[in-house]
Amino acid sequence: MKLQAILFPQVAAAAAAPLGTTPNPLSILANRESESPTIFTCAAVNWPPTSVGGLNVPQVPPPELQSMLAQVDPANIEATILKLVSFGTRHTLSTQNSTTRGIGAARDWIASEFQKYADATDGRLTVDVIGYEQPADGNRILFPVRISDVVATLHGTESPERLYVVSGHYDSRVSDVLDYESDAPGADDDASGVAISLELARIMSQPGYPRPRASIAFVAVAGEEQGLYGAQFLAQTYANATPRANVEGMFTNDIVGASKADDGTVDPYTIRLFGQGLPPLGVEDAAVRERRLTIGGESDTPARNLARLVKEVAENADTGMNVSVVYRLDRYLRGGDHRPFLEAGYPAARFTEPNEDFAHQHQDVRVDPATGKQYGDLPEFCDYDFIARVARVNGAALYSLAQSPGAPRNVRVNATALSNDSTFYWDPPAAGEEAVGSYEVVWRATPAPFWTHVMDVGLVNQVTVDLSKDNVIFGIRAKSPDGMRGAAVLPFPVS
Ligand SMILES: *[C@@H]1O[C@H](CO)[C@@H](O)[C@H](O)[C@H]1NC(C)=O
Ligand SMILES: *[C@@H]1O[C@H](CO)[C@@H](O)[C@H](O)[C@H]1NC(C)=O
Ligand SMILES: *[C@@H]1O[C@H](CO)[C@@H](O)[C@H](O)[C@H]1NC(C)=O
Ligand SMILES: *[C@@H]1O[C@H](CO)[C@@H](O)[C@H](O)[C@H]1NC(C)=O
Ligand SMILES: [Zn+2]
Repeated sequence: MKLQAILFPQVAAAAAAPLGTTPNPLSILANRESESPTIFTCAAVNWPPTSVGGLNVPQVPPPELQSMLAQVDPANIEATILKLVSFGTRHTLSTQNSTTRGIGAARDWIASEFQKYADATDGRLTVDVIGYEQPADGNRILFPVRISDVVATLHGTESPERLYVVSGHYDSRVSDVLDYESDAPGADDDASGVAISLELARIMSQPGYPRPRASIAFVAVAGEEQGLYGAQFLAQTYANATPRANVEGMFTNDIVGASKADDGTVDPYTIRLFGQGLPPLGVEDAAVRERRLTIGGESDTPARNLARLVKEVAENADTGMNVSVVYRLDRYLRGGDHRPFLEAGYPAARFTEPNEDFAHQHQDVRVDPATGKQYGDLPEFCDYDFIARVARVNGAALYSLAQSPGAPRNVRVNATALSNDSTFYWDPPAAGEEAVGSYEVVWRATPAPFWTHVMDVGLVNQVTVDLSKDNVIFGIRAKSPDGMRGAAVLPFPVS
């Protein structure tokens, strides 16, 4: 009550008023611009005022990216989803020796589509089907089964070893996660995500477009519903490669097919992006974790800064979408293919439609005789224009990241003596300094969600900014000569 009185004086006064005369506290909250405490106003995140740098504005897609995004075709996405649904079930345990039914047929069809795109290129796109035998696990894998991932890699020019991954899962399920025989259309979950991988591979690999500086892997994985097995295998394959693959960003598109919720809410111009805070234990050792907490860096992990970058480069007229970042690993009780990548130490995030309809996920296809309501993950509930826009958001993010120089390394701040300004040091991105046009220092007030300010500091590896590191959160990022930004990196104190 005391705290409430300090933070919300009107609300506290209302609560203290005699019964019958109590104004509804909600009306005070609703009217917050005019009469509420400043805690609700934007000014609250505008402190401290800064006289250096400028406002951080969204990145406009370059012409070739605008052209790519315009090519995303809802009709192709619809055709992919209908084709995947036509395999009856794509349950991970379903048959793999039919050409018309089951997950094996779906896998082969996806690989052949990617191969069709690859054949139309100058060799920049290559297709691999990788996999392993997953033994029975006493849980959701009843018997040994082959788990296959289909991976189409668009090989970069200047730093092909730097990789961005976009993935959907092609396996599907019904109400009983062990039922591998009933039809499981999985139109939204997750033929929609697979359709995005295919459509982006088709467009971004076209020889008429500049080949990106870094590589992009367009992926369809299996085993998601049985325990994220396909994504786990892929993440480990990258992590265990010699040298370890430098995955600087991974996105899973999972349940990105519909814009209408079960209560009728329609929001066709928003996509959620889930970005985790603190990395899983094991990725960051205890000393780093402790230091991160000491400096207030818990919201500035690589995954969060990847999500912030997506908002800056993919929320615009060419995608037609709002990107609503959710500072959370995933929805409650749900899992996704970004998780094994996070656990392998790679920045990763999840796209999911803004309003889910649980009658159309993980359900037997049926009509409830009492209500006449149709259950099941059927194509009739998909919104192909919406999925196309989600594909554009992914395309904008992937292309911007792949054209950027990548993340600067070893980013540090000098905190060895008390000072009012902030001195930073960093090393070039993995590919070196040649790919860098200039570096930027970005910052925001600590309660603000996204970078508000930026200062281009040129091609240097050290800079002093006349602003106290105690009062804002800083990041350092690299920009290509043509201005394509990479994700920012939180500086840690020089030790
Ligand atoms: C196809 O696979 C099933 C198991 O999924 C097996 O029982 C059957 O013998 C196989 N058929 C052929 C023709 O290989
Ligand atoms: C973002 O969402 C708002 C509604 O919240 C909508 O009016 C606007 O058109 C959307 N922006 C874009 C780029 O679609
Ligand atoms: C950090 O700043 C202190 C005080 O200005 C200075 O003595 C020290 O050399 C600086 N550290 C580095 C790594 O430059
Ligand atoms: C920091 O700023 C305050 C107020 O402007 C000033 O009095 C103080 O001397 C400054 N300290 C250093 C180390 O620059
Ligand atoms: Zn899914």
